[in-house]
Amino acid sequence: MPKEEIQAKIVVVGDSGSGKSSIISRYKNGTFNTDSDSTIGASFYLHTIEINSHILKLSIWDTAGQERYDSISTLYSRNSQAVILVADATRDDKVESLMKWYNKIVKQLLNDEVLVFVAVNKIDLTTVLYEFADVKIFADSVGATMFLTSAKDDLNITELFLSVGNAIV
Ligand code: GTP
Ligand code: MG
Repeated sequence: MPKEEIQAKIVVVGDSGSGKSSIISRYKNGTFNTDSDSTIGASFYLHTIEINSHILKLSIWDTAGQERYDSISTLYSRNSQAVILVADATRDDKVESLMKWYNKIVKQLLNDEVLVFVAVNKIDLTTVLYEFADVKIFADSVGATMFLTSAKDDLNITELFLSVGNAIV
């Protein structure tokens, strides 16, 4: 029997410097760049994975976090099945930042079915895990699945995308 092919769009949003492009580049190419360029506008990547005998064709949209590109990230988020909200683990304003992106992107999608994920990235730079209790409360409150990731050390990056894929299939 031929395997069922499913296409899905994932958008990655969050403040500039939180590590969106680094997470995608780690996942897609297995590489990490300490001076990764700030994204201009948006870029997208196609990635195919096989889950439970389904072929899942993901288009992963990497948006720019800089404020001047706000309208572009909203535009490119349209018709997404999943949104990954990224926050920088080392910053004190993680919850505010995640809420801002949630309101700007997820709420605008007007789609109750949209899958929401939170990646607290740069976990390699932190030691105290209980610091993330407030982020977990936020994630739970919006029904999002939370991952602590490091694009640098390759922690939970594949797990994050597999979890997105499993939720879609
Ligand atoms: P914009 O494109 O401007 O929205 O930023 P971005 O979210 O795509 O951030 P980017 O991936 O360009 O990363 C910003 C900086 O953080 C770069 O210097 C990366 O090398 C660094 N960085 C990203 N992820 C990690 C990580 O997991 N750990 C550490 N230590 N540094 C990281
Ligand atoms: Mg970027």
